[in-house]
Amino acid sequence: MSYSFNIIVAVDSQFGIGKSGLLPWHLKGDLKYFKERTSHVDTMGKKNMVAMGRKTWESIPQEFRPLSGRLNVVLSINPRLSLPDGVLRCENLQQVMDQATVLKDDIESVFIIGGATVYKEAILMAECRRLYITHILRKFECDSSFPKIPPYFKKNIQSDITKEGEVAYYFAEYERLNP
Ligand SMILES: NC(=O)c1ccc[n+]([C@@H]2O[C@H](COP(=O)([O-])OP(=O)(O)OC[C@H]3O[C@@H](n4cnc5c(N)ncnc54)[C@H](OP(=O)(O)O)[C@@H]3O)[C@@H](O)[C@H]2O)c1
Repeated sequence: MSYSFNIIVAVDSQFGIGKSGLLPWHLKGDLKYFKERTSHVDTMGKKNMVAMGRKTWESIPQEFRPLSGRLNVVLSINPRLSLPDGVLRCENLQQVMDQATVLKDDIESVFIIGGATVYKEAILMAECRRLYITHILRKFECDSSFPKIPPYFKKNIQSDITKEGEVAYYFAEYERLNP
């Protein structure tokens, strides 16, 4: 049995997630939530793995990557992709799970953090156990989107609505039924 993983994403009212390779919005509260959620561990000495597509990696400003305190994994089939020390490259999602299994003494949870190509594949995998979705209650201009949530995911937690300027959003957690 390989590792299970979680997906974390922010979606607009139409499930849009990106525009021209970037996030269509800037929400401090959501960035804070993302950092806390993907960094939190219950076991001292362990850390979480964050796995992302190569384009999402490239969209993170240089000064903020790799994402601190987490093992960064970049999905790419390009063996010549240049990455900083300590950042791993995986050729597919199975390899991500295999890496997590090899490093199980050091890694607590695995988060798939985007983008569209990776979410589309990851959400259909049996190992995908939980979705952390920030629902932004507004439509933005987007050119990439999050897939439809399969019916076997059940929303079990929903936060109050937060407002940042004109933008309202809330955090929700979905759990896979009968994992
Ligand atoms: N709203 C959010 O929460 C959120 C989160 C993350 C990203 N985003 C947005 O999403 C957009 C980027 O999404 P995207 O779909 O264009 O790009 P992406 O998924 O970040 O990256 C795509 C690249 O990742 C590699 N890749 C993807 N799946 C792979 C697999 N199964 N095996 C091996 N390599 C794989 C390939 O790289 P190679 O070509 O190098 O092989 C592919 O070209 C941006 O606008 C970003 O801001 C939004």
